[in-house]
Amino acid sequence: MSTEIRARRITTRDVRARKGGEPLVVLTAYTAPIARLLDPHVDILLVGDSLGMVLYGMDTTLGVSLDMMINHGRAVMRGSSRACVVIDMPFASYQESREQAFRNAARVLAETGCGAVKLEGGREMEDTIRFLAERGVPVMAHVGLKPQSVHTAGGFRAHGRAEDEAAAIRADARAVTEAGAFCVVVEGTVEPVARALSEEIAIPTIGIGASPACDGQVLVTEDILGLFADFTPKFVKRYAELGPIIDKAAADYAAEVKSRAFPAPAHCFGVPKPKD
Ligand code: KIV
Repeated sequence: MSTEIRARRITTRDVRARKGGEPLVVLTAYTAPIARLLDPHVDILLVGDSLGMVLYGMDTTLGVSLDMMINHGRAVMRGSSRACVVIDMPFASYQESREQAFRNAARVLAETGCGAVKLEGGREMEDTIRFLAERGVPVMAHVGLKPQSVHTAGGFRAHGRAEDEAAAIRADARAVTEAGAFCVVVEGTVEPVARALSEEIAIPTIGIGASPACDGQVLVTEDILGLFADFTPKFVKRYAELGPIIDKAAADYAAEVKSRAFPAPAHCFGVPKPKD
């Protein structure tokens, strides 16, 4: 029998139990090498459908397919061993009916081995979240700014300035809690709304451009590393500037190749090793 002791993955129950405790650290990951680097530092790795914009150069997340999410989810699972991996349900994979949502969420869980799925929506998704949660699918909900609804919501803007909109977001957060979500992403809301709903609901709130009063924070990894130059939201702090580093490395490499200064190591194919 192997004596190897494996660290167990953080579960959705562990995440749920962090309400009001040490803040949850969440970052996006789409590939195995990035997952490997982030895994020791985060509680949750989110395979967000933001990959459509960040990796594939799309204008919105609407063109992301379930197969894309499953493939990237499998890569992130292979690259991590500790974090709870949550995979986004892409647009049109769950909104049609709760049965469609279950069928597709079950594929995500079965084909990737991830811990949970995330879907966007509040009261309109209450019935679906309940249906999934009662059938063994842990759900992270997502309220406030919902990128998959960008065309009906009037673009990427702060939500909850008007009193009726603030009340609606708070009602959404209560609804997903009642339905059995284990935590909820609160995106792009004005600070007092995120603060208030973090105090009033019993599940952890994970803010993005929302409030430090949330029970955790999530950011897109490429944003904090300076790797996604198309659009960086105002609230994102850059912890590194990898863009210029990659640019310089590529330029140095190109210069070496062009001047034939590329090193030829002794073990290069075709160069026989000298015999002793
Ligand atoms: O798709 C994504 O990456 C997300 C987070 C930014 C919350 O939904």
